[in-house]
Amino acid sequence: MLHKNITAFPENFLWGASTSAYQVEGASLEDGKGPSCQDVKEIPKGTSDLRVCADQYHRYKEDIALMAEMGFKTYRFSVSWSRILPDGTGAVNPKGIAYYNRLIDECLKYGIEPLVTMFHFDMPASLDRRGSWSNRESVDWFVNFAKILFENYGDRVKYWLTINEQNMLTLFGPTIGTLMIPEGTKNVLKETYQQNHHMLVAQAKAMALCHEMLPEAKIGPAPNISLVYPATCKPKDILAAQNFNALRNWLYLDMAVYGRYNDLVWAYLKEHDALPQFAEEDEEILKSGHPDFIGFNYYNSTTCQWSDSFEALKDSSSPLDVAGMFEGAKNPYLPVTEFNWEIDPDGFRATIREVYSRYHLPMVITENGLGAYDKLTEDGKVHDPYRIDFLRRHIEQMRLAIEDGCDMMGYCPWSAVDLISTHEGMVKRYGFIYVDRDEFNLKTLDRYRKDSFYWYKKVIASNGKDLDNCFT
Ligand code: BG6
Repeated sequence: MLHKNITAFPENFLWGASTSAYQVEGASLEDGKGPSCQDVKEIPKGTSDLRVCADQYHRYKEDIALMAEMGFKTYRFSVSWSRILPDGTGAVNPKGIAYYNRLIDECLKYGIEPLVTMFHFDMPASLDRRGSWSNRESVDWFVNFAKILFENYGDRVKYWLTINEQNMLTLFGPTIGTLMIPEGTKNVLKETYQQNHHMLVAQAKAMALCHEMLPEAKIGPAPNISLVYPATCKPKDILAAQNFNALRNWLYLDMAVYGRYNDLVWAYLKEHDALPQFAEEDEEILKSGHPDFIGFNYYNSTTCQWSDSFEALKDSSSPLDVAGMFEGAKNPYLPVTEFNWEIDPDGFRATIREVYSRYHLPMVITENGLGAYDKLTEDGKVHDPYRIDFLRRHIEQMRLAIEDGCDMMGYCPWSAVDLISTHEGMVKRYGFIYVDRDEFNLKTLDRYRKDSFYWYKKVIASNGKDLDNCFT
């Protein structure tokens, strides 16, 4: 749809950016913090460990001041479960509670709304030893953690996100370093979707608890949603795209919003003897957790084609290939980043439209961004026109999606500050704020404003009207 008149972004639109605890904080075992699965995993070869990261634990004041200088209305960060509860359950770590009090208060000092993710890829290591999400008790562990967060921060935090990218945890867990499949498991698919089921139940309970304890607060899920395209208009490719969309996207949002399993996913799990086991109360719990909004991460679209037999991809370990469902395909129309991620701003608009037409809830973009090898010049500058271009084109499409009738409440690109990538190290930078360190050399850890910092400041000041790159 073409629009002649483009209206402004809504008033009170939440402009900001995101980070996650295990990627930005550092201080990984300091002040009583217990190890998380990220602290004990095997670090991908050639990349930094997660002991220092961007050292936000010690430099949060400087970081928040820089975010305030950009004009942030919100900062999306996650709380490290094992900083609050070193063993995941049991004794609370007062220094952990105090850290997030300081962080929240620092945000509020500048009028920045904290948007708090409760779980971002960092299961406490001691809970992994107890079976992680495979253990039915994980539901209670998570709800207990949620309760502690609501009790301690609910007086100041109005916006909550439950589980970051539960769909990526389920589909790509080993790459992220999170999927814990108990030894000797015969049907890995069944185990994976049982874990997924426990996360869904835990999320529903946490949303219901939030509404009960904090009637003024708003809570929503934060999956990674991107529309899956068929590789061609062959009818079979359309069926493949529906399969992948269901497995990648709609399973998570159908459950969060409607409290029921997506039919295609259910049929797929049944076919593979992988249906999750329901506890007696699950059906009711799943129906009881209603999100107030949908948060979702978008980096790129996905393309797939029909998969012709159960056998064809027997040896494939890629989650982009699911025999009898779909095979991943390259989209010839899209350029890629330095890290080979496809760039698709139109797909962003299409995804927003699709999510809104299915669920009709306000949406906040919880991640979107470009990872690149940024370089600090001798005079302390970082010229990142590629990032400005990427973000500008996505914001333009988001504005068009609003014009199309979609209800958008905020935009938080990844990431506020440079941090460690999930598996590609420190060299893959996303931030508006450059952090002076290399993969293995911690250097000064000083902060520098990138060109995109000044550009985003201008975008926010104009409430999204002025998207021109002032550096060209
Ligand atoms: C999202 C995650 O999947 O993508 C972040 O929520 C992650 O934790 C981001 O860092 C970018 O991915 P990567 O692999 O480039 O770090």
